Amino acid sequence: RDVKMKISYHGHSVVKIQTNSHTILIDPFITGNEKTDLNAAEQQVDAILLTHGHDDHVGDTVEIAKKCNAIVVAPFELANYIQSKGVEVHPMGIGGEREFEFGKVKFTQAFHSSSTTNEEGQVIYLGMPTGILFSAEGTTLYHAGDTGLFGDMKLIGDRHDIDVAFLPIGSNFTMGPEDAAYATELLQPKIVVPIHYNTFPPIKQDPKYFESLVKKAEVQILSAGEFVALS
Ligand code: NI
Ligand code: MN
Repeated sequence: RDVKMKISYHGHSVVKIQTNSHTILIDPFITGNEKTDLNAAEQQVDAILLTHGHDDHVGDTVEIAKKCNAIVVAPFELANYIQSKGVEVHPMGIGGEREFEFGKVKFTQAFHSSSTTNEEGQVIYLGMPTGILFSAEGTTLYHAGDTGLFGDMKLIGDRHDIDVAFLPIGSNFTMGPEDAAYATELLQPKIVVPIHYNTFPPIKQDPKYFESLVKKAEVQILSAGEFVALS
């Protein structure tokens, strides 16, 4: 059979994808992330995908992209902000889809916010928060970013055959375990991986509780550095 892409989890919302020819990072929050196994200086990637502008998602994006000459694909305002730091970017918008040489990217809606704070303490608004659909080599993953539960997750599930969904379960800033279990029913993925929990005290959750609530998908609780077991 064809060699499938390798998808690994690296704590908080960090996901790494290795296809036969490319390496892609989503939301590479490494420095300051006590739950990650990655070292920012050691990353060799072709592309970085960002869901929104919060520091626990943008993380080490600029440093890694500069070192690797990687392209950063992000929602429009966030892409412009990253470009202002001297990085090659490709801006996109919700509903938009593009075939890159490393795979196909589509941005979906998320209900959250997107901003950063500059050195003067001013809040910089960075457009809409998003989720990301990524497809390559016959496998589709959905990274929900940070979001609350929303009914149009059913549309995302109806219109895309999702192999792996990465869903936040931390509550406080995003869905908690119960809403994330309901989201799993709407999205209908084959595999669901809980993310965005236990990194900081406000998002302390038991992933086993989330697992107990999910009936129609395979739950894979991954430690940092572990791979999704694709069937
Ligand atoms: Ni956020
Ligand atoms: Mn977050």
